Amino acid sequence: MDDFDLELRAGTLDDAEIVADLEAARNPEDPRDPMMLRHWWTAGRPPDEVHMELVAEREGAAVAFLGAGHDPWDTIPKRFGWLRPLVHPKHWSLTRFGQLIDAGESWLREEQGAIAVARLRESFRDELRIFEDRGYREVRRSKVSELDLVAGREHLLASAGRSREQMKKQGVRLMTLDQDDDPDRMRKLYELSKAAEQDIPTTVPLRPPPYDEWHRFWFENPGIRPDRYWIARKGDEIVGLSVIGFPPKRGLPWTFFTATSRSVRGQGVARALKCETVAQAISLGAQRIRTNNDGANAPILHLNTEMGYRPIDPVIELHRELGT
Ligand SMILES: CC(C)(COP(=O)(O)OP(=O)(O)OC[C@H]1O[C@@H](n2cnc3c(N)ncnc32)[C@H](O)[C@@H]1OP(=O)(O)O)[C@@H](O)C(=O)NCCC(=O)NCCS
Repeated sequence: MDDFDLELRAGTLDDAEIVADLEAARNPEDPRDPMMLRHWWTAGRPPDEVHMELVAEREGAAVAFLGAGHDPWDTIPKRFGWLRPLVHPKHWSLTRFGQLIDAGESWLREEQGAIAVARLRESFRDELRIFEDRGYREVRRSKVSELDLVAGREHLLASAGRSREQMKKQGVRLMTLDQDDDPDRMRKLYELSKAAEQDIPTTVPLRPPPYDEWHRFWFENPGIRPDRYWIARKGDEIVGLSVIGFPPKRGLPWTFFTATSRSVRGQGVARALKCETVAQAISLGAQRIRTNNDGANAPILHLNTEMGYRPIDPVIELHRELGT
Protein backbone atom coordinates (compact mmCIF):
# COMPACT_ATOMS: atom_id res chain seq x y z
CA MET A 1 0.00 0.00 0.00
CA ASP A 2 1.09 3.53 -0.75
CA ASP A 3 -0.57 5.24 2.21
CA PHE A 4 2.45 6.50 4.14
CA ASP A 5 2.86 10.14 5.17
CA LEU A 6 5.78 12.08 3.79
CA GLU A 7 8.35 12.51 6.54
CA LEU A 8 10.36 15.46 5.44
CA ARG A 9 13.80 16.04 6.91
CA ALA A 10 16.46 18.61 6.14
CA GLY A 11 18.38 17.76 2.99
CA THR A 12 22.18 17.76 2.79
CA LEU A 13 24.74 17.61 0.01
CA ASP A 14 24.91 13.84 0.52
CA ASP A 15 21.36 13.67 -0.84
CA ALA A 16 22.45 14.81 -4.32
CA GLU A 17 22.67 11.20 -5.54
CA ILE A 18 19.18 10.12 -4.39
CA VAL A 19 17.56 13.40 -5.45
CA ALA A 20 19.16 13.04 -8.91
CA ASP A 21 17.61 9.55 -9.03
CA LEU A 22 14.24 11.03 -8.10
CA GLU A 23 14.57 13.59 -10.88
CA ALA A 24 15.62 10.84 -13.29
CA ALA A 25 12.48 8.87 -12.43
CA ARG A 26 10.39 11.94 -13.31
CA ASN A 27 12.29 12.48 -16.55
CA PRO A 28 13.76 9.15 -17.69
CA GLU A 29 14.45 10.38 -21.21
CA ASP A 30 17.00 12.86 -19.89
CA PRO A 31 18.02 11.57 -16.45
CA ARG A 32 19.60 14.07 -14.08
CA ASP A 33 23.34 13.61 -13.60
CA PRO A 34 24.21 13.44 -9.87
CA MET A 35 27.51 15.31 -10.30
CA MET A 36 25.74 18.10 -12.13
CA LEU A 37 23.13 18.35 -9.39
CA ARG A 38 25.84 18.49 -6.75
CA HIS A 39 27.42 21.33 -8.70
CA TRP A 40 24.11 23.28 -8.86
CA TRP A 41 23.87 22.87 -5.11
CA THR A 42 27.41 24.07 -4.40
CA ALA A 43 29.57 26.16 -6.75
CA GLY A 44 26.59 26.57 -9.08
CA ARG A 45 24.68 28.87 -6.74
CA PRO A 46 25.56 32.30 -5.39
CA PRO A 47 27.26 31.89 -1.98
CA ASP A 48 24.84 34.38 -0.42
CA GLU A 49 21.69 32.71 -1.77
CA VAL A 50 19.32 31.85 1.09
CA HIS A 51 17.94 28.37 0.58
CA MET A 52 16.52 25.25 2.18
CA GLU A 53 16.09 21.65 1.12
CA LEU A 54 13.77 18.96 2.47
CA VAL A 55 13.87 15.28 1.57
CA ALA A 56 11.55 12.36 2.30
CA GLU A 57 13.32 9.04 2.04
CA ARG A 58 12.08 5.44 1.99
CA GLU A 59 14.27 2.38 1.82
CA GLY A 60 17.25 4.46 0.79
CA ALA A 61 15.50 6.27 -2.08
CA ALA A 62 14.14 9.83 -2.18
CA VAL A 63 10.36 9.80 -2.60
CA ALA A 64 10.00 13.58 -2.34
CA PHE A 65 12.18 16.67 -2.44
CA LEU A 66 11.54 20.33 -1.86
CA GLY A 67 14.01 23.06 -2.63
CA ALA A 68 13.28 26.73 -2.02
CA GLY A 69 15.40 29.83 -2.01
CA HIS A 70 15.87 33.48 -2.74
CA ASP A 71 18.55 36.06 -3.37
CA PRO A 72 19.33 38.38 -0.43
CA TRP A 73 16.46 40.88 -0.43
CA ASP A 74 18.70 43.92 -0.66
CA THR A 75 20.10 42.66 -3.99
CA ILE A 76 16.84 42.44 -5.95
CA PRO A 77 14.09 44.98 -6.69
CA LYS A 78 11.21 42.61 -5.77
CA ARG A 79 11.13 39.83 -3.20
CA PHE A 80 10.99 36.86 -5.57
CA GLY A 81 11.51 33.44 -3.98
CA TRP A 82 11.50 30.13 -5.83
CA LEU A 83 10.25 26.70 -4.89
CA ARG A 84 10.82 23.32 -6.48
CA PRO A 85 8.58 20.49 -5.24
CA LEU A 86 9.27 16.98 -6.59
CA VAL A 87 7.43 13.73 -5.81
CA HIS A 88 8.53 10.36 -7.18
CA PRO A 89 6.05 9.31 -9.91
CA LYS A 90 5.41 5.98 -8.14
CA HIS A 91 4.29 7.81 -5.01
CA TRP A 92 2.80 10.95 -6.54
CA SER A 93 -0.52 12.17 -5.15
CA LEU A 94 -2.29 15.48 -5.09
CA THR A 95 -1.98 15.56 -1.29
CA ARG A 96 1.75 14.93 -1.28
CA PHE A 97 2.47 17.45 -3.99
CA GLY A 98 0.27 19.99 -2.19
CA GLN A 99 2.10 19.28 1.08
CA LEU A 100 5.40 20.23 -0.56
CA ILE A 101 3.99 23.45 -2.01
CA ASP A 102 2.61 24.32 1.46
CA ALA A 103 6.02 23.72 3.04
CA GLY A 104 7.77 25.81 0.38
CA GLU A 105 5.31 28.68 0.64
CA SER A 106 5.35 28.78 4.41
CA TRP A 107 9.17 28.90 4.38
CA LEU A 108 9.08 31.72 1.81
CA ARG A 109 6.54 33.62 3.92
CA GLU A 110 8.70 33.25 7.03
CA GLU A 111 11.52 34.65 4.93
CA GLN A 112 9.28 37.66 4.09
CA GLY A 113 9.13 36.73 0.41
CA ALA A 114 6.50 38.51 -1.71
CA ILE A 115 6.21 36.41 -4.88
CA ALA A 116 6.59 32.65 -5.14
CA VAL A 117 8.08 31.44 -8.44
CA ALA A 118 7.82 27.89 -9.77
CA ARG A 119 9.07 26.55 -13.10
CA LEU A 120 7.47 23.45 -14.47
CA ARG A 121 7.23 21.46 -17.69
CA GLU A 122 3.89 21.88 -19.44
CA SER A 123 3.37 18.14 -19.73
CA PHE A 124 3.19 17.81 -15.91
CA ARG A 125 -0.47 18.77 -16.22
CA ASP A 126 -1.61 17.57 -12.79
CA GLU A 127 1.10 19.60 -11.11
CA LEU A 128 0.30 22.66 -13.21
CA ARG A 129 -3.35 22.41 -12.25
CA ILE A 130 -2.52 22.23 -8.54
CA PHE A 131 -0.40 25.34 -8.82
CA GLU A 132 -3.14 27.14 -10.77
CA ASP A 133 -5.78 26.13 -8.21
CA ARG A 134 -3.61 27.83 -5.62
CA GLY A 135 -3.54 31.08 -7.54
CA TYR A 136 -0.31 30.68 -9.49
CA ARG A 137 -0.40 32.28 -12.93
CA GLU A 138 1.81 31.90 -15.98
CA VAL A 139 4.05 34.92 -16.46
CA ARG A 140 6.54 33.51 -18.97
CA ARG A 141 7.29 30.36 -20.85
CA SER A 142 10.51 29.11 -22.30
CA LYS A 143 10.84 26.98 -25.37
CA VAL A 144 12.73 23.77 -24.92
CA SER A 145 13.84 22.25 -28.18
CA GLU A 146 15.85 19.34 -29.43
CA LEU A 147 18.20 18.94 -32.37
CA ASP A 148 18.57 15.54 -34.02
CA LEU A 149 22.26 15.32 -34.88
CA VAL A 150 21.85 12.09 -36.82
CA ALA A 151 19.06 13.17 -39.18
CA GLY A 152 20.46 16.73 -39.45
CA ARG A 153 24.13 15.79 -39.80
CA GLU A 154 24.73 16.85 -43.43
CA HIS A 155 22.72 20.06 -43.17
CA LEU A 156 24.44 21.03 -39.90
CA LEU A 157 27.97 20.32 -41.12
CA ALA A 158 27.29 22.23 -44.35
CA SER A 159 25.98 25.22 -42.32
CA ALA A 160 29.07 25.07 -40.12
CA GLY A 161 31.28 25.17 -43.22
CA ARG A 162 29.42 28.17 -44.67
CA SER A 163 29.52 30.06 -41.37
CA ARG A 164 33.25 29.40 -41.00
CA GLU A 165 33.90 30.95 -44.41
CA GLN A 166 31.68 33.92 -43.61
CA MET A 167 33.52 34.51 -40.31
CA LYS A 168 36.91 34.35 -42.04
CA LYS A 169 35.78 37.08 -44.45
CA GLN A 170 34.59 39.19 -41.52
CA GLY A 171 37.88 38.77 -39.66
CA VAL A 172 36.27 36.75 -36.86
CA ARG A 173 38.28 33.81 -35.48
CA LEU A 174 36.45 30.83 -33.98
CA MET A 175 38.26 28.62 -31.48
CA THR A 176 37.82 26.76 -28.23
CA LEU A 177 38.88 28.49 -25.04
CA ASP A 178 41.91 26.23 -24.54
CA GLN A 179 43.29 27.41 -27.92
CA ASP A 180 43.25 31.06 -26.92
CA ASP A 181 46.58 32.28 -25.53
CA ASP A 182 45.44 35.77 -24.50
CA PRO A 183 46.40 36.06 -20.80
CA ASP A 184 43.39 38.34 -20.33
CA ARG A 185 40.88 35.95 -21.95
CA MET A 186 38.99 35.03 -18.78
CA ARG A 187 38.34 38.63 -17.83
CA LYS A 188 37.16 39.41 -21.36
CA LEU A 189 34.91 36.37 -21.38
CA TYR A 190 33.50 37.37 -18.01
CA GLU A 191 32.67 40.89 -19.21
CA LEU A 192 30.99 39.56 -22.35
CA SER A 193 29.02 36.94 -20.45
CA LYS A 194 27.92 39.35 -17.70
CA ALA A 195 26.70 41.98 -20.17
CA ALA A 196 24.89 39.51 -22.45
CA GLU A 197 23.10 37.81 -19.55
CA GLN A 198 21.39 41.11 -18.86
CA ASP A 199 19.94 41.02 -22.41
CA ILE A 200 18.10 37.71 -21.87
CA PRO A 201 14.35 38.44 -21.59
CA THR A 202 13.23 37.67 -18.03
CA THR A 203 10.77 38.73 -15.34
CA VAL A 204 12.86 37.68 -12.34
CA PRO A 205 16.06 39.74 -12.64
CA LEU A 206 19.34 37.88 -13.02
CA ARG A 207 21.95 39.18 -10.58
CA PRO A 208 25.30 39.89 -12.27
CA PRO A 209 27.81 37.63 -10.49
CA PRO A 210 31.21 38.82 -9.26
CA TYR A 211 34.12 37.33 -11.23
CA ASP A 212 34.96 34.48 -8.79
CA GLU A 213 31.38 33.36 -8.57
CA TRP A 214 31.02 33.42 -12.36
CA HIS A 215 34.23 31.42 -12.72
CA ARG A 216 33.15 28.75 -10.24
CA PHE A 217 29.67 28.52 -11.79
CA TRP A 218 31.03 27.82 -15.28
CA PHE A 219 34.40 26.21 -14.85
CA GLU A 220 33.74 23.97 -11.85
CA ASN A 221 30.73 22.60 -13.71
CA PRO A 222 31.49 18.92 -14.37
CA GLY A 223 29.77 19.18 -17.78
CA ILE A 224 31.99 21.98 -19.10
CA ARG A 225 35.47 21.73 -20.59
CA PRO A 226 37.62 24.53 -22.07
CA ASP A 227 38.18 22.41 -25.19
CA ARG A 228 34.41 22.34 -25.75
CA TYR A 229 33.80 25.99 -24.89
CA TRP A 230 33.68 27.98 -28.15
CA ILE A 231 34.61 31.63 -28.44
CA ALA A 232 34.77 34.16 -31.27
CA ARG A 233 37.58 36.70 -31.43
CA LYS A 234 37.72 39.88 -33.42
CA GLY A 235 41.09 41.55 -33.09
CA ASP A 236 41.87 41.87 -29.44
CA GLU A 237 38.31 41.31 -28.25
CA ILE A 238 36.23 38.25 -27.43
CA VAL A 239 32.94 38.96 -29.17
CA GLY A 240 31.01 35.71 -28.69
CA LEU A 241 30.71 32.42 -26.86
CA SER A 242 28.68 29.25 -27.12
CA VAL A 243 28.93 26.22 -24.90
CA ILE A 244 27.28 22.81 -24.71
CA GLY A 245 27.38 21.04 -21.35
CA PHE A 246 27.96 17.29 -21.55
CA PRO A 247 26.83 15.57 -18.32
CA PRO A 248 29.65 13.23 -17.23
CA LYS A 249 27.51 10.29 -16.10
CA ARG A 250 24.06 10.42 -17.68
CA GLY A 251 21.62 12.71 -19.42
CA LEU A 252 21.54 14.63 -22.68
CA PRO A 253 23.93 17.40 -23.68
CA TRP A 254 22.37 20.88 -23.48
CA THR A 255 23.49 24.23 -24.81
CA PHE A 256 24.13 26.16 -21.63
CA PHE A 257 24.71 29.60 -23.10
CA THR A 258 25.26 31.46 -26.37
CA ALA A 259 26.11 35.15 -26.33
CA THR A 260 27.60 37.83 -28.52
CA SER A 261 28.65 41.36 -27.73
CA ARG A 262 26.22 44.03 -28.82
CA SER A 263 28.79 45.48 -31.23
CA VAL A 264 28.64 42.41 -33.51
CA ARG A 265 25.02 41.30 -33.27
CA GLY A 266 23.19 40.46 -36.49
CA GLN A 267 26.45 39.50 -38.25
CA GLY A 268 26.14 35.72 -37.96
CA VAL A 269 28.58 35.27 -35.06
CA ALA A 270 26.12 33.38 -32.81
CA ARG A 271 25.11 31.11 -35.70
CA ALA A 272 28.77 30.35 -36.46
CA LEU A 273 29.53 29.56 -32.80
CA LYS A 274 26.47 27.38 -32.36
CA CYS A 275 27.38 25.53 -35.57
CA GLU A 276 30.87 24.82 -34.19
CA THR A 277 29.48 23.43 -30.93
CA VAL A 278 27.08 21.24 -32.88
CA ALA A 279 29.77 20.00 -35.30
CA GLN A 280 31.90 19.11 -32.27
CA ALA A 281 28.98 17.32 -30.59
CA ILE A 282 28.53 15.29 -33.80
CA SER A 283 32.22 14.37 -33.81
CA LEU A 284 31.94 13.30 -30.17
CA GLY A 285 29.14 10.91 -31.11
CA ALA A 286 26.23 12.79 -29.52
CA GLN A 287 22.93 11.93 -31.19
CA ARG A 288 20.81 14.80 -29.96
CA ILE A 289 21.18 17.99 -27.98
CA ARG A 290 18.72 20.27 -26.28
CA THR A 291 18.34 23.91 -25.49
CA ASN A 292 15.99 26.05 -23.42
CA ASN A 293 15.32 29.65 -24.40
CA ASP A 294 12.90 32.25 -23.23
CA GLY A 295 9.85 32.46 -25.48
CA ALA A 296 10.51 36.16 -26.13
CA ASN A 297 14.14 35.68 -27.19
CA ALA A 298 13.47 36.10 -30.91
CA PRO A 299 17.03 35.99 -32.36
CA ILE A 300 18.06 32.73 -30.68
CA LEU A 301 14.70 31.10 -31.43
CA HIS A 302 15.12 32.11 -35.06
CA LEU A 303 18.58 30.49 -35.15
CA ASN A 304 17.29 27.32 -33.49
CA THR A 305 14.47 26.94 -36.00
CA GLU A 306 16.82 27.50 -38.88
CA MET A 307 19.26 24.87 -37.58
CA GLY A 308 16.46 22.32 -37.34
CA TYR A 309 15.66 22.27 -33.63
CA ARG A 310 12.15 20.99 -33.00
CA PRO A 311 10.13 22.21 -30.04
CA ILE A 312 9.44 19.79 -27.19
CA ASP A 313 7.86 20.27 -23.78
CA PRO A 314 7.97 24.01 -22.89
CA VAL A 315 8.70 25.19 -19.35
CA ILE A 316 6.09 27.43 -17.75
CA GLU A 317 7.10 30.03 -15.17
CA LEU A 318 4.34 30.53 -12.60
CA HIS A 319 4.10 33.33 -10.05
CA ARG A 320 1.91 33.84 -7.03
CA GLU A 321 1.68 36.78 -4.65
CA LEU A 322 2.35 35.35 -1.20
CA GLY A 323 0.31 37.90 0.69
CA THR A 324 -2.64 35.56 1.27
C1 LIG B 1 20.89 35.77 -29.01
C2 LIG B 1 22.23 36.27 -29.49
C3 LIG B 1 23.32 35.30 -29.02
C4 LIG B 1 22.24 36.36 -31.03
O1 LIG B 1 23.48 36.77 -31.43
P1 LIG B 1 23.79 37.34 -32.91
O2 LIG B 1 25.28 37.41 -33.01
O3 LIG B 1 23.03 38.58 -33.16
O4 LIG B 1 23.21 36.17 -33.81
P2 LIG B 1 23.34 35.98 -35.39
O5 LIG B 1 23.76 37.26 -36.03
O6 LIG B 1 24.18 34.78 -35.66
O7 LIG B 1 21.86 35.58 -35.77
C5 LIG B 1 20.78 36.30 -35.30
C6 LIG B 1 19.59 35.99 -36.20
O8 LIG B 1 18.40 36.39 -35.52
C7 LIG B 1 17.67 37.24 -36.37
N1 LIG B 1 16.91 38.14 -35.54
C8 LIG B 1 17.33 39.19 -34.82
N2 LIG B 1 16.31 39.78 -34.20
C9 LIG B 1 15.21 39.07 -34.53
C10 LIG B 1 13.83 39.19 -34.21
N3 LIG B 1 13.39 40.16 -33.39
N4 LIG B 1 12.98 38.28 -34.73
C11 LIG B 1 13.41 37.29 -35.53
N5 LIG B 1 14.71 37.14 -35.88
C12 LIG B 1 15.60 38.02 -35.37
C13 LIG B 1 18.71 37.92 -37.22
O9 LIG B 1 18.13 38.47 -38.39
C14 LIG B 1 19.64 36.75 -37.51
O10 LIG B 1 19.12 35.89 -38.48
P3 LIG B 1 19.56 35.93 -40.04
O11 LIG B 1 21.04 35.86 -40.08
O12 LIG B 1 18.88 34.73 -40.63
O13 LIG B 1 19.03 37.24 -40.59
C15 LIG B 1 22.52 37.70 -28.92
O14 LIG B 1 21.41 38.51 -29.22
C16 LIG B 1 22.77 37.71 -27.42
O15 LIG B 1 23.92 37.57 -26.96
N6 LIG B 1 21.72 37.92 -26.63
C17 LIG B 1 21.84 37.93 -25.16
C18 LIG B 1 22.15 36.55 -24.62
C19 LIG B 1 21.09 35.56 -25.04
O16 LIG B 1 19.90 35.83 -25.02
N7 LIG B 1 21.55 34.34 -25.38
C20 LIG B 1 20.67 33.29 -25.85
C21 LIG B 1 20.04 32.56 -24.73
S1 LIG B 1 21.18 31.53 -23.91
